[in-house]
Amino acid sequence: MIHKIPHALTDTMTFRERLGAIERIPLAEYPTPLEQLPRLSAELGRPVYVKRDDGLGRALGGNKTRKLEYLLADARRKGHQKIVTFGGLQSNHARLTAAAANRLGMQTHLFYFEKRPTQLAGNLVINKLLGANMHFIPLGGNGMSIETTIRLVRLVSVCMLGRSYFIPVGGHNALGGLGYVRAALEIDEQARAAGIAQAHLILAAGSGGTLSGLMAGLALCGSQLKLLGIDVGKLWKGFPASIASLANEIGSQLGQPLSFTAQQVPLIESTYVGPIYGSPSEQGNIAMRTLAQLEGLLLDPVYTAKAFAGLLGEHAKGHLGQRTPLIFLHSGGLPALFAFEAGSLLNKASGLK
Ligand SMILES: Cc1ncc(COP(=O)(O)O)c(C=O)c1O
Repeated sequence: MIHKIPHALTDTMTFRERLGAIERIPLAEYPTPLEQLPRLSAELGRPVYVKRDDGLGRALGGNKTRKLEYLLADARRKGHQKIVTFGGLQSNHARLTAAAANRLGMQTHLFYFEKRPTQLAGNLVINKLLGANMHFIPLGGNGMSIETTIRLVRLVSVCMLGRSYFIPVGGHNALGGLGYVRAALEIDEQARAAGIAQAHLILAAGSGGTLSGLMAGLALCGSQLKLLGIDVGKLWKGFPASIASLANEIGSQLGQPLSFTAQQVPLIESTYVGPIYGSPSEQGNIAMRTLAQLEGLLLDPVYTAKAFAGLLGEHAKGHLGQRTPLIFLHSGGLPALFAFEAGSLLNKASGLK
């Protein structure tokens, strides 16, 4: 979907000037920390860092706060009071949208294309506390591209609620993606200051917007960081092409044509998804316990545990070089930890308590 960025931007501006000229409502403190993980580094025999985007914003925080700073600024500028978005049952994006909208005195409607659960848990409980309106429409899985899904849900929301500000799943558009262009500049600067300018930067890909924003941002600032997205859901038809096209769209909105192709998208698509999107995976559970027991850091079973399983798995296969530093983008999601039975998270696995 083409999402025009409505600002007077001139041809002679640099991409940083253009980025700075686009309206944004700060919803958190920046930069977020880039922390070293000494015990994990010793275990893997290479420097490992974590970028702490997990605490970004209100209501337990996460990566979507960066996107919402641009999206809600646009909503406010256009005079909207009603914000609509959608996601999976444990969508952190939905929760963070409700929290940020409350802060701005806006009302939120959240669509879930699943049956209403008999018991609300995790993110859904927090949505209730935040007073968000939740709509459950049991349509099941789709197998469509993310663009088609967004178009259909937008139609449904217009039919049901009339005029509103519609935010795609995961804040997946060029305006939301700017949040991760800013993050790319922030991470590149921190990595250079820490002497790890050529690190691998590993993250979860759900809607893919975080990865698109980082691809655009790192390319535009000439960063040497090497990106790796771990698909946590295998949700979308033609996912790499969608990510490439959003990264290119973000570039052109900033006056800098980019030409990523689907083949150039640094994404591992199915290896770390586990049984299905939204369910814990055995590799993810092991990854969760590894990080918790070595570093006291928590991950969530839906997104970050699967991405961290990707980091551990690709390290073990030797796909990330031998001693090149690693940065794990911790994108949040912790409420989902409380949405699952203990047994589904604590399966017994080799060598772990
Ligand atoms: C905790 C967490 N991490 C990562 C992601 C993936 O971000 P994106 O949708 O931008 O790919 C999401 C949302 O989808 C999330 O909630």
